[in-house]
Amino acid sequence: MIRDQVLLSLFMSLSYLLATLHLLILAIGIAAVYARWRALRDVRTVAHLPAVFLADNWYGVAAMGWVITGLWRAFGGLEKGSEFYLESHWFIGKMGLFALVFLLELLPMITLVRWRIDRRKGRPLALNRAPLLARLTLAQIPLLVLMVGMATAMARGL
Ligand code: HEM
Repeated sequence: MIRDQVLLSLFMSLSYLLATLHLLILAIGIAAVYARWRALRDVRTVAHLPAVFLADNWYGVAAMGWVITGLWRAFGGLEKGSEFYLESHWFIGKMGLFALVFLLELLPMITLVRWRIDRRKGRPLALNRAPLLARLTLAQIPLLVLMVGMATAMARGL
């Protein structure tokens, strides 16, 4: 009996902790993607790159956090159960948008990794790509906002 109560309260705490983290990551992710867009817009020389890399680091943390806490919540039996989410068109839509964000992120991700390596090795960087990367970054923001709308609909079983 006491063991069951302890397990239940651990379960509730974990579910609460993951829900809190999932929302905190939303704040971090939106701030980071916005900061990366602003920083990329201003890139003229390598001296502007640290701001881009810092924002990009935080965006990477948010992306990992979203996937870990999101999948855990959806399929770890902590919320409404896997079946509920797999049958929710809002969840499918939300994951579809996440896939779209990932596609838009491919070129920035690859280019920024390359820039980091080239800068460390003192090689010349193709900074003329910065405006394109800025546009690809900006395009992700409305999709993330739309995902929030889908998430709240999903959570309410609409
Ligand atoms: C692999 C990625 C993700 C998965 C698997 C996932 C999954 C989930 C799950 C299972 C919930 C709980 C819903 C419920 O209470 O029944 C949730 C809530 C939420 N998610 Fe995600 N999520 C992911 C990424 C994201 C992203 C990228 C955003 C925002 C841009 C986001 C925004 C939200 C919001 C705002 C809630 C709270 C909804 C509410 O309680 O009203 N999620 N997510």
